[in-house]
Amino acid sequence: MTATDDLDLSACLDFAVDLALDAGAVLRAYFGGSLMVETKSSEIDPVTDADRASEALILERLRHHFPDHAILAEESGHQEGTHFTWLVDPLDGTVNFAHGLPHYAVSIALYRGRTGLVGVIYEPERDELFWAVRGRGAWLRRRRERRLYRLHVSDARRLRESIIATGFHYLRETLDRNNIAEFSEIVMRAQGIRRAGSAALDLAYVAAGRLDGYWEYYMSPWDIGAGGLIVQEAGGILRTVEGEAWDPWQTSTVASGPALMPLFLEALRRAREA
Ligand code: IPD
Ligand code: CA
Ligand code: CA
Repeated sequence: MTATDDLDLSACLDFAVDLALDAGAVLRAYFGGSLMVETKSSEIDPVTDADRASEALILERLRHHFPDHAILAEESGHQEGTHFTWLVDPLDGTVNFAHGLPHYAVSIALYRGRTGLVGVIYEPERDELFWAVRGRGAWLRRRRERRLYRLHVSDARRLRESIIATGFHYLRETLDRNNIAEFSEIVMRAQGIRRAGSAALDLAYVAAGRLDGYWEYYMSPWDIGAGGLIVQEAGGILRTVEGEAWDPWQTSTVASGPALMPLFLEALRRAREA
């Protein structure tokens, strides 16, 4: 055991919560104003000055408080460190944000190797803070309210009674799995399907039982690291679309309550094999 194995997870949670709230305040200050928008991997993949300002704040404080930890942040790449890694999406939902659509979030997670320890997602517009610590459940707090809500995934058993969320990668025109066959299958079987534009919030909403399931291909660890832990701590299941064990470095993510997962995976398998 190294010295860093003694990490105080409650202190890490408090730190990550403060960071997410402050980064969220930065985003809110930019939201609705005139933004500098550039593109990254393709002409539909935007980054704004708000993404960069939020990430700069987060990285500055992470480096100061945990100088030996690794960081995997969307806009700045990978900083080497110990086996503790912070996964940082400074603005999840950039397309929404750039269009003035108020559905976006900050997502911060701490992992040891491939195991989630702390996950925090903050949605500034509704002032909703979702978090989880490994083994201590998943929670929601709104700052204007005093109480905490414990999160539980839904007990939906059938796609017919389920709202399912998904997303489509920015490189969907060229990727081998563009998700269209899967979308066609699920849209015909579920009660409703949503493409709301923030994977972090899709997972937080599965944890809260607002959505019954979520799947997507080719996510990056910063998109789903915090949300994955929050779903697990809310009693949910995570798998790859092949039904294999999940972690944020896998190339697909399927999330739901335990009762729905077998039929959900079966529908996705049918779509892939069609
Ligand atoms: C994107 C969102 C979107 C998902 C994309 C992500 P970004 O993240 O989470 O919902 O479908 O795959 O890349 O670019 O807004 O941080
Ligand atoms: Ca982002
Ligand atoms: Ca993202």
